[in-house]
Amino acid sequence: MSVDLESQLQDAVKTRRTFAIISHPDAGKTTLTEKLLLYGGAIHLAGSVKSRRAARHATSDWMKLEQERGISVTSSVMQFMYEGYHINLLDTPGHEDFSEDTYRTLVAADSAVMLLDNRKGVEDRTRQLFAVCKRRRMPIFTFVNKCDRVGEDPLKLLSDVEADLEIACHPITWPIHKDGAFVGVYDRRQKQVHLFERGEHHGATRATVAISSLHDAELREVLGAESQEKLIQDISLLDAAGHPFDEQAFITGELSPVFFGSALTNFGVEPFLREFLELAPPPAPREVTGIAAGIVNPTDEQFTGFVFKIQANMDPKHRDRVAFVRIASGRFEAGMQVKHVRTGKMIRLASPQQFMARERTAVEEAWPGDVIGVMDRGNLRIGDSLSETNDIEFSGIPRFAPEHFARIVLLDPMKRKQLDAGLRQLTEEGAAQVFFTSGTDTVSPTPIVGAVGELQFDVMLHRLEHEYGALCKLERIAARYPRWVVGPMREIERIARDRGRMLLWDAKGSPLILFEDAWGLRWALEREKDVAFHEVAP
Ligand code: G4P
Repeated sequence: MSVDLESQLQDAVKTRRTFAIISHPDAGKTTLTEKLLLYGGAIHLAGSVKSRRAARHATSDWMKLEQERGISVTSSVMQFMYEGYHINLLDTPGHEDFSEDTYRTLVAADSAVMLLDNRKGVEDRTRQLFAVCKRRRMPIFTFVNKCDRVGEDPLKLLSDVEADLEIACHPITWPIHKDGAFVGVYDRRQKQVHLFERGEHHGATRATVAISSLHDAELREVLGAESQEKLIQDISLLDAAGHPFDEQAFITGELSPVFFGSALTNFGVEPFLREFLELAPPPAPREVTGIAAGIVNPTDEQFTGFVFKIQANMDPKHRDRVAFVRIASGRFEAGMQVKHVRTGKMIRLASPQQFMARERTAVEEAWPGDVIGVMDRGNLRIGDSLSETNDIEFSGIPRFAPEHFARIVLLDPMKRKQLDAGLRQLTEEGAAQVFFTSGTDTVSPTPIVGAVGELQFDVMLHRLEHEYGALCKLERIAARYPRWVVGPMREIERIARDRGRMLLWDAKGSPLILFEDAWGLRWALEREKDVAFHEVAP
């Protein structure tokens, strides 16, 4: 490798941070994203993030959402600079547009920020997304939001997080209260107190008090004796009984550094961003299989990457598809030929683009950690590996268990072929998962489709009708607790027959059982030891 490229790669990797925010709806992800973008100088973006939120609140109707899609799609990844770092913030769609894409995006990230509402702590969606991060052993930061208003006792909140998610918490900042109101945070690493002063228009100002000790007289003056005493007690409790910061445990997702702040008033966001950039890992080596199996290092000269998301119909006039590629190693250059490992063909990645909220810009070059969108005519699939020369394969993107199931009923029996073609295409794009009621017969008269988010069903019906001419309706299936099952077939059939559960096969021929409710699932998990149950396709 030329010395030049080597040092360029090293610099690029060192300064790249690629992450995603995981949260339950309404915890403040849009607000925090907006504030982070503002620090990156992308001020003009703030409005577009807001208008997305407005769109979201205004409608749950997919047709209208489709009109807004130009906005939501192009912000799939937001790139911004801050103090010499190139930050890629991957969007994890929430609310109605929550789908398998939300999970898949996490596979393209190197770390995650778990955003919690200070009154609600861990909620359902947080738990689901956290499980994906945990499985990948990803470093996870925690940002406890909305501290401008009084929330759950922070010690209780963190002990709930630890018990619920089985992760150790290490607070880096700690909230300070005075007369029942939030007055600031103490930064345990910097040994500074940041005072919170509510400003106009949801803003806040920050006054920083550098202290040599928590017993400082100056601190007593601003906080008052009672608050100072409480802070001293809290911090000595954390020092003595809390988890010390352990770099290795953090990198493997077993310990989460915690920050307290308020995205809305912009308090605690910048200190968080600074520490995040220092602690968050740059793009990491990734394991690959195939002829050149082993480890791909981001600083390897060869370009490699993988497709983690495919977006159809970004522009209804052009019917184009965009495949999102996360670069794992080497330098990407516009116009370069790469090997499409699954088919063995050399392909040119067409019109590579980077996405900055509303704007798509042509990419001349991109580096490990970056995400580029390439135009695709239906050759690329989710999980596909791309490589300059070597036949390597990234471990792929798991298929996640859907939460909703429905039978697809074709309204015009003459359109059978169109329906099959449409479902095949939607499955390849990862927009739908199709299931069959037999392990051998994959042409069922009424295929069953699964979706992670409700909106996915609307999108399926709309696209089957408008792109394939197959007008369909859905018959919903009540059971929504699926598990892929591995074990002796007679055992699997017995568990499925019990209580008349559904036994289904996915497009790859792997069986799964649909459980009627969480209780039924738990019961089977506890009792059935001859069969292994998996949340992602084995
Ligand atoms: P989401 O993307 O995670 O769904 O959350 P979003 O940012 O849309 O925030 C959800 C609500 O929480 C919004 O209020 C937002 O203003 C509020 N919020 C976000 N961060 C903070 C914070 O630090 N403190 C407080 N007190 N509130 C916060 P809304 O009433 O739904 O919308 P809006 O009318 O304020 O726009």
